[in-house]
Amino acid sequence: MAASEDTGPDKNPRFRYARRAEVLGKSIFEHPPDTIILSSGLAYPPLLPDVVREAGDAAGDHVTEAMQYGPLMGLDDLRDQIADFVAEDGVRCTRDNVLVTYGAKSALDLACRVFIEPGDRMIVTRPTYMSALHIMRTHNVSFLAVAQDEEGLDTDELEHELKRLEANGERAPKLLFDIPDFHNPTGITMSLARRKRLIELAQKWGFVILEDDPYRRLRFEGEALPPLKALDETGVVVALGTVSKILAPGLRVGWALGEPEVVRRMAFQKADGGSNPFAQRIVVDLMRSNKMALHIDEVRDRMREHRDAMIGAFAEHLPEITIRAPEGGYFLWAELPDGADAEAISDLAVEHGVEVSTGRLCFPEAGPGNFLRLAYSYVGPDVIRDGVARLAQAYRAFERAA
Ligand SMILES: Cc1ncc(COP(=O)(O)O)c(C=O)c1O
Repeated sequence: MAASEDTGPDKNPRFRYARRAEVLGKSIFEHPPDTIILSSGLAYPPLLPDVVREAGDAAGDHVTEAMQYGPLMGLDDLRDQIADFVAEDGVRCTRDNVLVTYGAKSALDLACRVFIEPGDRMIVTRPTYMSALHIMRTHNVSFLAVAQDEEGLDTDELEHELKRLEANGERAPKLLFDIPDFHNPTGITMSLARRKRLIELAQKWGFVILEDDPYRRLRFEGEALPPLKALDETGVVVALGTVSKILAPGLRVGWALGEPEVVRRMAFQKADGGSNPFAQRIVVDLMRSNKMALHIDEVRDRMREHRDAMIGAFAEHLPEITIRAPEGGYFLWAELPDGADAEAISDLAVEHGVEVSTGRLCFPEAGPGNFLRLAYSYVGPDVIRDGVARLAQAYRAFERAA
């Protein structure tokens, strides 16, 4: 099932749960056997990197570092490697700007811990990354949800909303979360003009931009644009990065880049001390050799094939569904005709042996019911084609029943 399904609050709970834990969700890893998974952005198993040598070195030569509690900010060697990695995108920083985390999601959580009081508003796009919404909700935020168009977050609407809040005597939100490159779920890449405008708005209204950028290196075509962090002269951007999409999500290594006073505060919010130094040492080695760069090239080329297979399968089996071909990343955003119920279709899809996510999960507030999010990352082209054919059967079953 898509992460959508939850069982609803238990009428007679055995324990006195916090409100945020009243509903017991199902794990995204629980599926009926033989289900084709097009719901989550898992890594393609044949592309998981072989790290036997690097793990051996970490457990051997580096054993005292790897088996010890790690430094709160992360291994200095890794912080240096990350600074070099982002320099390729025009981001100027030193290790003092880099905090190593357990992936980008953990970095988002730490940023919320540093900035958010219960009840604060956060600015997000509608739709946005469903897991990010989940993390933000655990901080009891409310949302200022701003539309997107082909150029990304609608900065005019954002400005209008900020002025409206001001007119009501309310302060601007402190944090904005967005994914400017190959947005999850829409696949949209923010234009350069919007990037610049967003930074101006952040400076003027005093909010911090959390730029979540896991897919940047997975560009299939077109010209790369500078990350927001590369355009940021005043420190209003905190960039979140990860090796999950370019190496392996199981490593759980990510980072936040920002002003030292911000990332150090984030470090002190870690509940678990320094993040896993064993995995960090492996990543240092992969980054230092050209293994990671070669791996990224391979992932990008394979993901392009996966995307093309999915787009081709939609053209063949579901031509009435509007899709936007992303220029990179892992996801396809599908708009069903008016009146189609994505939730019912995703339930039927499971019965037909394929799992997709209802787009409703990506909306901070009640959202339109006619979107599906599909990931082409986890299974190969033939299985993707089979999965979309199964989805088409589910869709036809929905049409017959409607
Ligand atoms: C937009 C976005 N941010 C972050 C992540 C994952 O981050 P991590 O595995 O580093 O926590 C994903 C994975 O799907 C994603 O789509």
